[in-house]
Order: sequence, then C-alpha cells, then structure tokens
Amino acid sequence: MELLPSTEPFPAFPADFTWGTATAAYQIEGAWDEDGKGPSTWDTFTHQPGRVTGGQTGDVACDFYHRWESDLDLMAHLGVNAHRFSVAWSRVLPTGLGPVNPAGIDFYDRLVDGLLARGIAPYVTLHHWDLPQALEDEGGWTNRATAEAFAEYAALMGERLGDRVIGWITLNEPFVLTSFGHSFGVHAPGRTMFLGVWAVVHHLLLAHGLAVRALRDAGVRGTVGITQNLSPVWPLTDSAADRAAAEKLDSIYNRQWLDPILLGRQPVDPEATYPGSDFSVVRPGDAEIIATPIDILGVNFYNPQQVKAPGADNPMGFELVPIEGVPRTGFDWPVVPQALTDLLVGLKERYGDVLPPIYITENGTSIPDTIDADGRIRDIFRIAYVDRHLRGLHDAMQAGVDVRGYFCWTFTDNFEWAEGFDQRFGLVYVDPDTQVRTPKDSFEWFRQIATGSAAGRQAEVMP
Ligand code: FCB
Repeated sequence: MELLPSTEPFPAFPADFTWGTATAAYQIEGAWDEDGKGPSTWDTFTHQPGRVTGGQTGDVACDFYHRWESDLDLMAHLGVNAHRFSVAWSRVLPTGLGPVNPAGIDFYDRLVDGLLARGIAPYVTLHHWDLPQALEDEGGWTNRATAEAFAEYAALMGERLGDRVIGWITLNEPFVLTSFGHSFGVHAPGRTMFLGVWAVVHHLLLAHGLAVRALRDAGVRGTVGITQNLSPVWPLTDSAADRAAAEKLDSIYNRQWLDPILLGRQPVDPEATYPGSDFSVVRPGDAEIIATPIDILGVNFYNPQQVKAPGADNPMGFELVPIEGVPRTGFDWPVVPQALTDLLVGLKERYGDVLPPIYITENGTSIPDTIDADGRIRDIFRIAYVDRHLRGLHDAMQAGVDVRGYFCWTFTDNFEWAEGFDQRFGLVYVDPDTQVRTPKDSFEWFRQIATGSAAGRQAEVMP
C-alpha cells in the first residue's frame, strides 16, 4: 500500500528541539578485529553459518572505523544538531573488564571531538547488543558479574568522555536483546532459553541502574537515561481473552522495562512469567539500584503490536496477529503513525510526573531502495514515514508530553543484524561492496526539517 507525505503544512517544533540521527557500533564500524579490539557476541554469531541472511557479517559493515571523518562531514551537511552512536564495549575493553585498549578508547574520543567540531551534540549508547565474547563465555547476561562489569565500563567511559557527551544511554532495547538474543536465538548470542530468561531480564535492569550510578559518580556533565523499544499493544477483539493477551504482552514488552526504573517495582510475577528461570538472582537492594532516577527516557518506535488469546499449546499468554489494512515497510512492519501519539500520551498517563523528558532515539523505515538511471534514490515512502511520525510526535507534544528530540534511524544504510545489508534504513544509500555513499531524497528532506530549527543548535552543544 502506498504511503505519501501529508499535504498539510509541517508543524512547528520548538526552536531548541534536538534533531539527530542514530547508529550502533556493530552495524557500521567494521574493523572487527583491528587495533586490539576483542571479539563480541555479534562477531561470533555472524561468523557461524546460517545465522545471517546470505552469510553476511559486520566484519567491514560501513567501514565507519576508517571513514568516520568523511561520514561526519556528510552528517554536517544533513544539518542535524545531534547524533547518537554506540561504543563497542570490546573495542575499549577487549575482554569486557580491564585492561583498557588505548586505541579503542581513543577512537571514541576522536569521534566525540569530531562531532562537536561540526556542531553536532554526541549522545552515547554504552551497550547496543555487542557484548564482549569473553563475558558471554562466563555466562553473559545470565551472570550478575556481567552487570557489575558493565558498571566498571560505564565508569571508564564517563571518566574519559563525560566532559563532552551531551546524553548517555545505558542500554539499547533490553527487550529485544532478551527475546531475540536469549529466548529465540535469532540474534546474538543465539541462546534459546525461551521463557527461562528471568536472570537476563533482571541483570539487564540491574546493569542499567549500576551504570547510571557509575556515570554520575564519574561526574558526567550530560544527561543519563536508557533507550526502550515501546509499542502500544492492541487486542484483536474486545473479548476478555484477547484483552488479557494484550495485557500480557504489554507487561513484558513495555512495563517490565519501565516500571522498575520509574516506579520502583517490577510488574510481572517472575515465577508465573518466566518458568524454568533462576529466581535466586534478585538480591536485597537491587530494586533501589534499578530505580536510580534518570534524566531522560529514550523511546525507539517503529510499529504497534496486535495480539489475540493464545492456543492451548502456547505458554506465552499471547499470539501475535498481523495488523491489516495499513502500509507495510520493507520488513513487513505495519505503518501506524497515530500509534506513536497514543504510545506517548499513554506513557504520560501511566507515569505522570515521574516520566522524564523523552527523546525518540530511533524511528525510521527500511524499504527496498533502488538507484534510478539519473542517480537519484526516490525514497518517497521513507519521507512519508518520517513525515507522518513527526506529525504524530507533534500531536503528542501538543497533548502535553515533554519530548525534546528525534533521532532518525539511521544515517547510512548498514548491517541490519540478522538481515545483513538486505534491509536498508539509511538517509544515505551505501553500496557495501564499494562503500560509495549516495544521499537519498530523504536526506535533503530531513535536512530541511532539521535545519528548520537551527536556532536550537548551539544550545545543545556544551562549550
Ligand atoms: C532497532 C535497533 C536498531 C535497528 C532498528 C531497525 O530495534 O535498535 O539497531 O536495528 O531496530
């Protein structure tokens, strides 16, 4: 189904609104074993046969490790005033704990300076799924020691970059890391623990809380928060059984990752939700650590979810049902911009005054882009997707939700996890064989949006 931009005038965003792009280390950097970097779970996973479409890996990815300066020049042309990137933990700490790899930490130091020199505020994600393999070998996120190691790594990054980073994100989408990576094994580390993942859930939340404290103890000047992928969950019908299914998915998808941080309590009953798990992992004091106040909440939004009551042989408590009658992305995800408004207004209703200012830390779409004979990439669907989600976002702001920024996923086409280069999300087209970059039509469109609020630019960048 076609998707076109709205013909209504584009709404006015605040002059100090943050306009950015977002990326993740494994998806762009390449240089997987260069300059002392240790292997991560994603290096291991992609090197195993059958894990990624066509056997693709992120060994080279967008070669950002070598091309970062010209990529930042291109980003400066885009006119964004912020950029969110992640640090590859095993580039900085090859085995997850000491000793430090100076070449690795220097890379991120230069990257932060390079962004600031171009008037782009650095937002740093500490963990976007690529765990040092050495920590995985010790049990990874099933092991409390991984959360403790994460806090040490956070302290190190805070000490080194804390004078210049504008915003810190501890973890990216712990729900996806838990479900895709640990329950179903379709992402690294490829574990298939199904429902037995309570230790992973708890240790990720704990790691977040410990890292917030470590960053603050390190004296970072920027704001500190976490990025969650959130979705409204719709019942297929109004039946009690379908509504219970929606409630179930909402609890593990959304509330499980927010309530412990914002309200200080875990809404799911671990023993009922995660049978077969190790329930001894929760220690006195953990809830307080997890509830350490945060300054900002990162929200990644792509699409809503729809569920119905599960069949008798399904122990999950819900069954996903495709949303029909709407446009679909290259990933076959349904496009429902109104769901972003509903999500944000719903967060405000649920959390009220304890809801921190929100940044949309990811939103965008993959489509099967093609280069026309004249060299242009006419990605009207992507323009329409972002246009309509920005309008949905603006509606939520009009309704009183405090949203401070929007980071488009993503800057350049990149290694889209289990799909490799087959799903293109970039504002810039990348040929992975030649590494040639070609801005798509959406690049110029987003440039106009981002620079429309150029007045906010300097306010974002600390002296
Ligand atoms: C999010 C991930 C990001 C990217 C987008 C499409 O779940 O955080 O790395 O893969 O989806």
